Amino acid sequence: MSDFKEDILKGRVALITGGATGIGKEIARTLGKHGARIAITSRKQENLDAACQEFEKEGIECLNVASDVRDGAAVEAVIAAVIEKWGGLNIVINCAAGMFIAPIERMSYNGFKTVVDIDLLGTYNVTKAAYTAYLKDHGGCIVNISAPFEHWGVSSMAHVAAAKAGVESLTRTCAVEWAPLGIRVNSVAPGFISDTEGVKRAGEAMDIPDDRTLKGTRQDMANAVLFRVSDSASFISGICIRVDGGATIDLLRMPVV
Ligand code: COA
Repeated sequence: MSDFKEDILKGRVALITGGATGIGKEIARTLGKHGARIAITSRKQENLDAACQEFEKEGIECLNVASDVRDGAAVEAVIAAVIEKWGGLNIVINCAAGMFIAPIERMSYNGFKTVVDIDLLGTYNVTKAAYTAYLKDHGGCIVNISAPFEHWGVSSMAHVAAAKAGVESLTRTCAVEWAPLGIRVNSVAPGFISDTEGVKRAGEAMDIPDDRTLKGTRQDMANAVLFRVSDSASFISGICIRVDGGATIDLLRMPVV
């Protein structure tokens, strides 16, 4: 749970892509617990149904619509369903993402393209469809779940690093183009977050110590998103918050002597 008041998102409608599992699910739950009516989308209907059943037990009503964010027409249908069910759309969280660990030499052309398509093109598709269908006439806010990779080299994740750097760029461009329309666009970049598919996959290739200075929780991510979509952040746009305990700026990992 967060320290924010329970009703700060009352009257808002939020769509969370990738909202059936991992960080996206925690974001959906947290926005729902703070008064938003929520909708989630992801590829697998069984994951969506399971998440919605969990939410309903917690008193959160949730619409779910299966889609692949790479498919522009499917995404437009999701946005239309959300607007029809809840009467509008105020908050969009782009959290759907894919990744696997492989150096460039073992990454096929299609493997690279697949992740860029999900992470970057998918973010564009959802953002553009939400803008066109509702946000351009009503304002709102978008949060893109990014990664703290924009200025670094990242071994074995060329696809994710390139895609998420693109997401950061897209975030800034949308923020400046749409500021006059009352649309804020921000990003939140996780470091290592426990109990996520991404860290599970990274953990198979590297030993990440179980240490609070290195590993955050899904709730840490959800709280940062909650702040970004709240009115407390109403003059904040086009900028990334890293949720990493400072770990990703500690380049040399020198001991404190
Ligand atoms: N190592 C190397 N290549 C891989 C791979 C791996 N572990 N996983 C997928 N690929 C390649 C496939 O071989 C294929 O390329 P090819 O056609 O040249 O053989 C390409 O990626 C697409 O794979 P496919 O399984 O058809 O794509 P998909 O759309 O079903 O999903 C992922 C691919 C990467 C998104 C999948 O791993 C996934 O669903 N991950 C779960 C989500 C996730 O990782 N979330 C955390 C985000 S931080």
